[in-house]
Amino acid sequence: MNAPSAAKVTVADLRGRKAHGPRIAMLTAYDCPTARLQDEAGADIVFVGDSVGTNVLGYRGPQQVTMADMLHHTRAVRRGVDRAFLLADMPFLSYQVAVDAAVRNAGRLVQEAEAEGVKLEGGSEVVAQTRAIVQAGMPVMGHIGYTPQTQSPDLFVHSERRGTVPKFQAKGVRGALHLLDEARRLEDAGAFALVLEMVTEEAAQAVTERLSIPTIGIGAGRFCDGQVLTVTDLLGLNQQPLRLARAYADLRPAMASAFRAYVQDVQTGAFPTADHAQQMEPEQRLRLEQALREAGNAADRASGQV
Ligand code: KIV
Repeated sequence: MNAPSAAKVTVADLRGRKAHGPRIAMLTAYDCPTARLQDEAGADIVFVGDSVGTNVLGYRGPQQVTMADMLHHTRAVRRGVDRAFLLADMPFLSYQVAVDAAVRNAGRLVQEAEAEGVKLEGGSEVVAQTRAIVQAGMPVMGHIGYTPQTQSPDLFVHSERRGTVPKFQAKGVRGALHLLDEARRLEDAGAFALVLEMVTEEAAQAVTERLSIPTIGIGAGRFCDGQVLTVTDLLGLNQQPLRLARAYADLRPAMASAFRAYVQDVQTGAFPTADHAQQMEPEQRLRLEQALREAGNAADRASGQV
């Protein structure tokens, strides 16, 4: 296995990877120790996704994630990342309402949490925001296809077995050409890369081959310039594993069994053992016993029991 390169990852490096490879490996992180391990493992982009809401904070969806949440978690991740490019998601309503608010909120993630770039969801409806943030000097990654912050009914499908779940985008010619058009608009607006989420492999390939900026796929098949995976999917921590993701570990049962074993050990006294404790030197121990005896005798005398 190659040792991860120690050089700091920049926007120029990421753009260069489109032509020269290797593919870009991007991962979500929500806390400092996980981010540090990803940085050391050679991840190119460590990404504080708004998936922090559902994956860590127990929210019902990404719409509940606030700027305060993103600032808090981006600061934590920042402390663990030295080499990778640190990207932060712009949460729901931090950029949709007005262009100047979008620039200000992107600026907060960069200035207050030291993100090196921001990601925002949407196509033509966020072109003005993308352009303005880039013009203010901050790198922007776009995100099209399935966009989790949008509650539009045409992004979901209902099945008896799985309930309401996200739907694949760009399944036909019209959808694929629309996706390509949106991708081009974001590229023109200055986005340095583009996430393609849950789109058909053919559509993702068509976009990837026609853009000069790298595409990062998630559920978008084999032909993107990079991939992104949430850390919870990668570690096998999600209750319902996604078909489109690959779990590289099975931590959920491992964690559950570790928690059960701890509870049992505490309840039965199996933990801690003498090995987990610090004992006094024998002389100190004898002196303590003596002091306790004397204190006990004095207390007995004072209460008239002797
Ligand atoms: O928030 C997130 O984790 C994301 C990825 C799925 C791209 O936006």
